Amino acid sequence: MQTATTLKDLRQAVDELRGPDGKGGTIALVPTMGALHEGHLALVREAAKKADHVAASIFVNPRQFGPNEDLDAYPRQLAEDSAKLEAEGVALLWAPTVEVMYPEGYATNISVSGVTSGLCGADRPGHFDGVATVVCKLFNQVRPDMALFGEKDWQQLAVIRRMARDLDLVLPHVDAIHGVPTVRDEDGLAKSSRNAYLSAEDRAAAAVLPRAMDAAIAAIAGGAALAKVLALLKAALLDGGFASVDYAEMRDADSIALLDHDNSNARLFVAARIGGTRLIDNKPVTA
Ligand code: PAJ
Repeated sequence: MQTATTLKDLRQAVDELRGPDGKGGTIALVPTMGALHEGHLALVREAAKKADHVAASIFVNPRQFGPNEDLDAYPRQLAEDSAKLEAEGVALLWAPTVEVMYPEGYATNISVSGVTSGLCGADRPGHFDGVATVVCKLFNQVRPDMALFGEKDWQQLAVIRRMARDLDLVLPHVDAIHGVPTVRDEDGLAKSSRNAYLSAEDRAAAAVLPRAMDAAIAAIAGGAALAKVLALLKAALLDGGFASVDYAEMRDADSIALLDHDNSNARLFVAARIGGTRLIDNKPVTA
């Protein structure tokens, strides 16, 4: 595996993979912020099935963290992450510094409207601008054929798809922005780098989140009134050890518009806080 930390080295490494005649094969990019777990590795494994070469990026992107968020605390473990990627057969690791990504004088922002208007877009002002901006830069830097993202961050996936369409970003593969299903621990909690912040007690309690979502989805499918189901879901989280619920809403999976009745494209989205850590999850509501 080659590791590039400057744009010059990255270009050279990408050119080598592409080959002198451009026939060296396709490249799939897996963007991450590191602290890699099985969720990230599922993206890498899927990427290896879909392209000839896998490139991964690790960059803790300051522009997507709010002023009171966990940018400083966010786990950084490049050596461990690098070993994991190498073991998965990743060809290229792109690990720029903040100065390389946002040099002195950097002044451009990408802002996607519509799909960002609720959920994490409402709770974390500027977050999706930061995500869209860095992902656009990563696409232009690596110039992959396709990129893979997790369904764990469903709204993020919608934002990136919207941006890629709106800005005519060139990703030649037919399934250019590929979503990978959420990888969960045995008790159902979605794997997340932020789960590492949880005490053992809070980690055990956090399993109420996917359980309560499953119960809510079953109740919706059984015809229960949505407002009542969502109120019960919030109460179950608070009873189960969560300190607060940022949102628990049913929305259209593509437009992210709020729904008051289920349909075949409905999804349940929850963000809630436990022990100072904000966890998010989403699941389909099968009508
Ligand atoms: P990060 O949180 O490191 O996640 C990197 C990728 O892994 C994202 O596409 C995310 O959806 C996916 N992922 C995380 N947990 C997952 C799980 N349990 N199952 C499946 N996929 C999972 O998301 C980001 O970084 C950043 O916003 C980024 C896109 C890299 C831009 O900075």
